[in-house]
Amino acid sequence: MQRTFAIIKPDAVAAGHQGGILAAIQEAGLRLVAIKSLRLSTAQAEGFYAVHSARPFFRSLVTFMTEGPVVAMVLEGEDAIARWRNLMGPTDATKAGKDTLRGRFGTSIERNATHGSDAPETAAYEIGFFFSGLELAGL
Ligand code: RTP
Ligand code: MG
Repeated sequence: MQRTFAIIKPDAVAAGHQGGILAAIQEAGLRLVAIKSLRLSTAQAEGFYAVHSARPFFRSLVTFMTEGPVVAMVLEGEDAIARWRNLMGPTDATKAGKDTLRGRFGTSIERNATHGSDAPETAAYEIGFFFSGLELAGL
């Protein structure tokens, strides 16, 4: 069993795609361990994407991620990190297949509807960034 961290980004929340994304998670057989809606502050978005702070798209990414509420989730299953990334599709939504979440709900390389951890270490860090031990206890 493995856990991963996922976000429904502001573009997909604003467009009302939470239900479609949650249905896809259920159909894929990933277990929804925890879920909450929140709006990121600029400092929180900068911290979450700190690994990209030197990239040319960083400011634009932070502005995007703070423009409205997001849905943060912890997903669990065998090989959950890779399975969720496959379900999301590639970063650039314009190149993502229509059988992927980014292909269905994203509109550009930046506004790509969902986030997913890329490795066990980042999953553990990101889950801890968004959820307290109490929120995960017993789940
Ligand atoms: P994520 O971290 O959100 O799951 O996405 P990812 O691994 O597929 O892509 P990553 O390289 O980690 O980039 C993080 C997010 O930054 C935005 N981005 N914009 N304008 C651009 O060239 C560009 N490249 C990336 C996207 O929102 C991407 O998901
Ligand atoms: Mg990434």
